[in-house]
Amino acid sequence: MKHLAIVLLLCLPLCSAYPVHGAVKEEDQTMDLAQQYLQNYYNFIEDVKQVFRRKDSSPVAKKIQEMQKFFGLEVTGKLDSNTLEVMQKPRCGVPDVGHFSTFPGTPKWTKTHLTYRIVNYTLDLPRDVVDSVMEKALRVWAEVTPLTFSRLHEGEADIMISFAVRAHGDFYPFDGPGNSLAHAYPPGPGFYGDVHFDDDEKWTEDASGTNLFLVAAHELGHSLGLFHSANTEALMYPVYKSFRDLARFRLSQDDVDGIQSLYGPPPSSVDDSMVPNTSLSPGPGTPAKCDPALSFDAVSTLRGELLFFKGRHFWRRSQWTPQPEYNLISAFWPSLPPDLDAAYEDSSKDTVFIFKGNKFWAVRGNEIQAGYPKDIRTLGFPPTIKKIDAAASDKEKKKTYFFVNSKYWRFDEKSQSMEKGFPRLIANDFPGVQPKVDAVLQAFGFFYFFCGSSQFEFDLNARMVTNILKSNSWLLC
Ligand SMILES: *[C@@H]1O[C@H](CO)[C@@H](O)[C@H](O)[C@H]1NC(C)=O
Ligand SMILES: *[C@@H]1O[C@H](CO)[C@@H](O)[C@H](O)[C@H]1NC(C)=O
Ligand SMILES: [Zn+2]
Ligand SMILES: [Zn+2]
Repeated sequence: MKHLAIVLLLCLPLCSAYPVHGAVKEEDQTMDLAQQYLQNYYNFIEDVKQVFRRKDSSPVAKKIQEMQKFFGLEVTGKLDSNTLEVMQKPRCGVPDVGHFSTFPGTPKWTKTHLTYRIVNYTLDLPRDVVDSVMEKALRVWAEVTPLTFSRLHEGEADIMISFAVRAHGDFYPFDGPGNSLAHAYPPGPGFYGDVHFDDDEKWTEDASGTNLFLVAAHELGHSLGLFHSANTEALMYPVYKSFRDLARFRLSQDDVDGIQSLYGPPPSSVDDSMVPNTSLSPGPGTPAKCDPALSFDAVSTLRGELLFFKGRHFWRRSQWTPQPEYNLISAFWPSLPPDLDAAYEDSSKDTVFIFKGNKFWAVRGNEIQAGYPKDIRTLGFPPTIKKIDAAASDKEKKKTYFFVNSKYWRFDEKSQSMEKGFPRLIANDFPGVQPKVDAVLQAFGFFYFFCGSSQFEFDLNARMVTNILKSNSWLLC
C-alpha cells in the first residue's frame, strides 16, 4: 500500500513542462534537477546532495532505479546521461506509476451520459475550431467506451472547459508561457471533471505551437478517471510529445485497456443476447451477428483472439470475454478503411496483414507499421490482380495462401517470395470448397473457408472438407 500513499501525496493535477536547456554539466545543477524530479514524481523527500555526500547513497539509488524501470532505461541506480536526458523532457506534473492507472480511490462517473460546456475561449484559434477540437478529443474516448457526451451552452456541465491565465480560482495558478500547459480534475461533482487550459500557451491546430487536441485528449482522460501510464505509446504517458502525424492519431491499447477498466467496452450496436428472434432484420449498416445469412469480409487471428471483419465493424472474440465484442474498425485502427478484403496473421512477426483493393497494411496490436500501405504487387502479384478475396497463413509450413476468384497463390514466408507454379485452381487443391472465398481463417490445424453464410472446415493434410458450418458459428449464436 506504500504505492498508494505515494500517489495520494503527489496527486496534484498539474501538468508542467520543464524546458530543455541543453546538456546540464554542472554537478550542482544535475543534483538540483534530480532532486526536483525525484521529489515531484517519486516522492523522494531526502536531500539528494547530502545523500550523495554520505557513504550510503542507496535511498536515492533506489528511487533512480524506480524511475529507470518506469521509463524502460537501463537500471543502474546512477544519474547517467540517459537518465538525465529523460529528466529534462517536458512532461505532465503528476507522479509516475505502472502501466495505465486510475486516481486513488478509482473515481469514475457513475453515469454513461456526460455533459460538457466550453465556458470560454482562447484567442489563438477561431471558436469553431476549439469546438471541433473538443468534440474530437471527447470522441477519442467515446469510441472505446459506452460513454456519450453532449454539449451544454449554459449552466453547470459535468466537464467545464475553460481557458485562463495565472491565478484562476483554484489552488493551481498557471505560470505564463511554457511549463504548466493545462490541468484537469478526476470525476466528481463541482470542479471535479473540469479542464483548465493555460491561455498563455500558443494553442494551435497543428504542431507549430502547443497542439490543443493532444493536450485536450490527455486532460479529458484525467477528467474521465485515468491517471498516467508508463507505456510510451500511451496518450496518458506523462511526457508530452507532439505526434508528427496528427491525422493518424489513435489511442494506444494501454489507454483503451485503462478506460475500459473503468467503463467497459462500447456496447455492440446489436445486442442479440437479449433478442431470441434471430431473424430480426438488421438496421442499416449494423449486421446482427446471429443473422443466419451473415457473411464476413475478412477473418484473422490476432494475438490469440479472433477477428471477424464486416463493413465498418469487426467482432472480436477472445477467451477473456464471454461474448464477442463489436467494435468500429476505426476505433482500433483509425487509418484503415471499411469493407476490407482479407486479413491474416503472421504470428512469428506478431503482425496482422490487412488487405483492401491493391493495398495492404501491416498492423501490430493496434499500431499500423511504418511504410504501409504497400501495393500488393510488392508481394509478387501480377498487375492484372486488383484485389484479393482472402488470405491465410499455414504457420507450420510458413506458407501464406492468397485466394483470388477461382484461383490461389502461395507465398513462401521464408524466402519472402511468391512460389513458382501458381496460381492454381482452388477447386483442384481444396476439393469441396466453393469458390469464391470471402475469408479464410487458420485455426486448430484447419483452414476455415467462409463462403457467404457457409463455412467449410478443411483439413490441409487429409485434403478434404471435414465439416460444414454456418459462417457465424464462431460468434456463439
Ligand atoms: C474563463 O473562465 C474561467 C473559469 O470561470 C475564468 O477563471 C477565466 O478568467 C475566464 N477567462 C477569460 C479570458 O475570461
Ligand atoms: C422475427 O422477426 C421477423 C422480422 O422482424 C418477423 O417477421 C418474425 O415474425 C419474427 N418471429 C418471431 C417468432 O417473433
Ligand atoms: Zn497528465
Ligand atoms: Zn485550474
